[in-house]
Amino acid sequence: MRIVLLGPPGAGKGTLAKLLQETMEVTHISTGDILREEMNHQTPLGKKIKRFVESGELVSDTVVTKIIENRLSSKKNSDRGYLFDGFPRTETQARDLDKILTKIQKPIDLVVYMESTLPVVLQRLTGRRVCKECGALFHMVNKLPQRPGICDLCGGALYQRPDDHEETIKTRMEVYLKNIQPIIDYYAAQGKLKKIDANRNAETVKDELMKIFDAKSKLGHAQP
Ligand code: AP5
Repeated sequence: MRIVLLGPPGAGKGTLAKLLQETMEVTHISTGDILREEMNHQTPLGKKIKRFVESGELVSDTVVTKIIENRLSSKKNSDRGYLFDGFPRTETQARDLDKILTKIQKPIDLVVYMESTLPVVLQRLTGRRVCKECGALFHMVNKLPQRPGICDLCGGALYQRPDDHEETIKTRMEVYLKNIQPIIDYYAAQGKLKKIDANRNAETVKDELMKIFDAKSKLGHAQP
């Protein structure tokens, strides 16, 4: 299946993607993770995009679409499908994604719109800690690591993303709200959009999604 996860910062796209990846063996493609990897390795691209990512503004459509195109042509991808997390973020990106997927005859099956509200995302993101080594997610209230500052899975150091401070989260939310409606309209017109209340806990959200996938598979709408 090819699935797009849409939603504001902190809706839980990354958390859900990790849960679904385990169950469905799909390839998780997060443009945010890819961009941060470029920044961590201080590549020419990483240096160019740093100020956008750290201030909560969007990186250009051309740059992120090229990244997606490269990822989809990589041999590392699974045949089971993809989970797009944080892409598309503009209507242009949504249209470009369709063009790329049409070329390889693997269209999007489902777009999950994870609705969440500012107080919830502020609480989630200001408390989020990420493992530097394996990318596992923790939370200072909801999901504490067993040893402070240390990843339970690999022992790596936990850090706070520079864009996870209150003012930057608010900027990210404004940027999101400015761009989201045309994307929703675009996928709703294709009959692919499913809304889900993402203010609930992660397991409940995942269970609801699994029911949507099952229903879709039974109808024979999802292609391998
Ligand atoms: P990106 O990394 O994509 O950030 P984002 O969309 O703002 O989303 P987040 O990763 O912050 O949140 P999430 O929804 O994944 O939440 P998570 O699961 O981690 O993008 C960063 C930047 O890169 C952008 O601002 C932009 O500059 C650039 N960029 C990226 N893609 C781009 C594109 N396509 N075009 C242009 N620029 C682009 O959860 C958050 C916390 O909450 C965690 O601690 C988690 O444990 C907790 N949590 C999650 N779900 C729940 C739940 N249901 N209940 C309780 N706690 C929960």
